Amino acid sequence: MLYCSPMPLSDARALSDRLLAWYDRDRRLLPWRAAPGEPADAYRVWLSEVMLQQTTVAAVIPYFNAFLARWPTVAALAAAPVEEVMQAWAGLGYYARARNLHQCAKTVTEWRGGHFPEDEESLRRLPGIGDYTAAAIAAIAFGHRAVVVDGNVERVMARLFAVTDPLPGVKPRLKALAAELTPTERAGDYAQAVMDLGATLCSPRSPACGLCPWREACRGLAQGIEASLPARAPKPERPTRRGIAFWIVARDGSVLLRRRPPQGLLGGMMEVPSTEWRPEVWDLDEAQSFAPLPAARLAEPWRPLPGLVRHTFTHFHLELTVVAARATGQPPVRGLWCPLDRLAEQALPTLMRKVVRLALSKAY
Ligand code: ADE
Repeated sequence: MLYCSPMPLSDARALSDRLLAWYDRDRRLLPWRAAPGEPADAYRVWLSEVMLQQTTVAAVIPYFNAFLARWPTVAALAAAPVEEVMQAWAGLGYYARARNLHQCAKTVTEWRGGHFPEDEESLRRLPGIGDYTAAAIAAIAFGHRAVVVDGNVERVMARLFAVTDPLPGVKPRLKALAAELTPTERAGDYAQAVMDLGATLCSPRSPACGLCPWREACRGLAQGIEASLPARAPKPERPTRRGIAFWIVARDGSVLLRRRPPQGLLGGMMEVPSTEWRPEVWDLDEAQSFAPLPAARLAEPWRPLPGLVRHTFTHFHLELTVVAARATGQPPVRGLWCPLDRLAEQALPTLMRKVVRLALSKAY
């Protein structure tokens, strides 16, 4: 049998060296990453880290590539109209990120000559950059020693140190443990190495401990509790909200869309007009006062389409009923009559794409 010397958790240097050696061999090839030994580009790092907030690497890659091809520099992104940025972001979710992204690009271009600041504190003053993103940019783009903690890193720390107290309360402790291990040298590689470890080997359900560079040190593994960590306080049940979406088709076949208010959920994105979203089921008569066209401008009564559009936001489930009607013409109305073959160009969030899909399959 191979003899593996146990690695004490107190030897931070030995742990980081071992992890970095693993990273040098097995790092993921991601489009925003610099080649080994090359300096990273702050624009790419910032763009990727903002996209990766609450979103998986697999979902981000095509958006990252499209943004970079269209806006190769922070100045180019700053010069774009915000609506185009929102439209290119459509489908990625958490749309306040896109608005902040654009605002941040403008600030960096107009006030800082196109250069991102290097330290965490200055980075945190920019729109859309919180603790995590500031630490990630400082470490990955500029090599500063910064403690980068996302969900992957929390899982790795909870297992390595066998921390059984539940999230979210235990976050500060996991961050303190992560800080103890963070080296001064190769801080950017180290940050990405822990994230890669969490995303590949130290995965939530069935960790591949046999391949892990930290297996001899891992207290969670030694105690046989690794797969159950991190513990989580039970989440409150997500409530369900309900609404009605109005699919209105003009004589020429175009469909009515409108822009949501800039603040609030899906702020600034285009929508198929809908009622307010609330816990109680809507009655169609009651909902009509929210319709963007009065019944007199419709060629027929509202027709509820079979099926429901379901979508889950962070804090609630949403169920939308879609009702359809033809308009008498193409009346002037607040909103946009969009030809069906140009719907793809609109900044329609995923929820609204589901509405469109249901309407196209069930309406006219
Ligand atoms: N998740 C968030 N940022 C990441 C990065 N830079 N590398 C890998 N996974 C990440």
